[in-house]
Amino acid sequence: MQASDKAIINEIKALTDLIRHHNFCYFQKNAAEISDYAYDQLVERLVQLEKTYPHFKEPNSPTETIGEKPSYRSPLVHHPLPMLSLAKTYSEAEIVQFVARVKKIAPDLSISFVCEPKIDGVALCIRYESGKLVAIVTRGDGTAGDDITQRALQCMQLPTVIEDAPLASFEVRGEAFMSKASFKAFNDKRKKEGKPLWANPRNITAGTLNALDIDLVEGRQLAFYGYSLYTPKPFLATHQEALAWLAKWGFSTLPIYKVCKDVSAIMTYIHYWAEHKNELPVGIDGIVIKVNEFDQQQLLGATAKAPRWAIAYKYQPETAHSTLENITFQVGRSGVVTPVAHFKPVVLAGTYVSRASLYNAEELARRAFHVGDTILIEKGGDIIPKIVGINLAHRKAAQQPILFPQSCPACATPLYRAAGEAIYYCPNKQRCLPQLKGLLLHFVQRRAMAIDAIGPKTIDALWEAKLVQTAADLYKLRYEDVIQLAGFQALSARKLLANIQSSKARPFDRVLFALGIKHVGDTLAKTLALHFACMERLQQAPLSELLAIPTIGATIAQHIVAYFQDPDQQALLADLQSAGLQFSLQQQAIAELPLSAKKIVISGTFHYFTREALMYCIEQAGATLVTSISAKVDYVIAGQKAGPAKLAKAKALAIPILGEQDFMNLIRYESLSCI
Ligand code: IVH
Repeated sequence: MQASDKAIINEIKALTDLIRHHNFCYFQKNAAEISDYAYDQLVERLVQLEKTYPHFKEPNSPTETIGEKPSYRSPLVHHPLPMLSLAKTYSEAEIVQFVARVKKIAPDLSISFVCEPKIDGVALCIRYESGKLVAIVTRGDGTAGDDITQRALQCMQLPTVIEDAPLASFEVRGEAFMSKASFKAFNDKRKKEGKPLWANPRNITAGTLNALDIDLVEGRQLAFYGYSLYTPKPFLATHQEALAWLAKWGFSTLPIYKVCKDVSAIMTYIHYWAEHKNELPVGIDGIVIKVNEFDQQQLLGATAKAPRWAIAYKYQPETAHSTLENITFQVGRSGVVTPVAHFKPVVLAGTYVSRASLYNAEELARRAFHVGDTILIEKGGDIIPKIVGINLAHRKAAQQPILFPQSCPACATPLYRAAGEAIYYCPNKQRCLPQLKGLLLHFVQRRAMAIDAIGPKTIDALWEAKLVQTAADLYKLRYEDVIQLAGFQALSARKLLANIQSSKARPFDRVLFALGIKHVGDTLAKTLALHFACMERLQQAPLSELLAIPTIGATIAQHIVAYFQDPDQQALLADLQSAGLQFSLQQQAIAELPLSAKKIVISGTFHYFTREALMYCIEQAGATLVTSISAKVDYVIAGQKAGPAKLAKAKALAIPILGEQDFMNLIRYESLSCI
């Protein structure tokens, strides 16, 4: 073997390992370490080397396998038709070659292409049998993926029954994603709560769909873009028709796809969306060009990895150079310390940016930033800019490395890092200012106690004046206290006090949410309120009772128990109770009850409600629960595994059968907030 051969073998081996490592980070950990562009460059180099030196190719090269491996946590489902990837390029010349290749294979045919957005999300396959949604499966390794039906339905609106399909059984494939607006709202909320931010919509989409603990998924709204329809027997002639059917059935298909007859039309489309992609409600990272006619697609076939009838043109992410000025460390309300890079402002994707989040200590250590470093910043599909490189050639000897602090930047308490976690916490819950102020901000927010008159500035002013240290202090404020604060006049002071007073009517579940108990978000606060009905029962709940609630895992249950055992929190709760906050579910006035005097039968098990909670809700809504079906019954609420005999009898008597969600709508679950 020659020395040059050895070098090539080594490079192939190194690239193969590196790409496998990045596949793992991207698909399994949902935390990419390099940009898509940098990844694609590695793959391209490996493809070139393997083409030139096929005898040195590693077995199972990542150029031939699809990156994602099923997680093995959910049931594995086989894909009868493999879920393939796409050939991709950053070069317009390769699009010209693609069109020429297609035309060569089918020279006598007139060929049209559909150009459509390439959404940067997570590929899913949705199976329908007899017109009913039966399974939602991830791509996995292309041959089998995870069954994530329950989780996906919890955070995505999808047609569960399709009545007018020409074929009863089929698969809809497409991309799950989070819109830019939902992503921004979600991260804004996390910022307020002092939680680390998600890097981009793709990561949160993958994280949500992979989450084991349903609780961690709460409040996350994902969307689904259908891009293919697979039927056992062909019944359509073109991809364009398939997109039209998907739209008709209620799938969102971004209505910007276009049928193009030639390269020039394809290029016009690519250039147009390069300019306008930032205006779309969803992040796109390129354009997919597909042969429109299914017959022609068949003729072209596929490789083991990707079809020959489609290609993705990927937009280069926008990048800019800047100078790193500093890294600050922010403490959130739960004590998490997040490094934030500050650099000289630069324009990226149409906006000025001067800050980038670095997520955690590991990333900071790995990158070894120095003040004054020339850094490369990228803003592609990501909403938050990312630092993707440092130009070490520009680093001067005198520049100082930036290290993660050992103690809290706000209160100097030594930081704590849980085993196996990359996050540092400040444990000083009692005295650390950003944590205390963060908790107050969480407490007053609209979804909590809705004290809109108080924002971050007023919290600062109340704190400075030593008027408020805990949420309970808000209820002790007097007119004389508020009027002395800068910026307050008689009217605004009265308004603020009235706002605090009216917050006492906020329902029990909102109070629970407002407390800021770790992991107790919107939905869990509702579940707890419904299950325990009053604070006292929840305070005394043993771990086992919490664990018996289907959506609560061990970590969350332990946090809840620890919170109620903490003497500081007990004192706070006692103060809030004396202030007159709602510590139990409220009885509605009888006339207002949405199901007054109705008779209801329940059957099966439910996703959101425990049986007790459902019974409680029925009772609170003014209805009576009965056990057997008769003509006197007004509704049947059917869950999973509902008794078939009961359902048949209800149908025979024409009694409306409600699903869990229908029932929630009927009792106006959201607006009544636990009734
Ligand atoms: S078609 C057999 N169309 O990109 C062809 N894919 O890198 C299947 N993607 O795994 C894919 N938008 O999840 C297609 N409009 C689109 C797409 C799209 C995003 C994803 C898809 C695929 C990946 C390929």
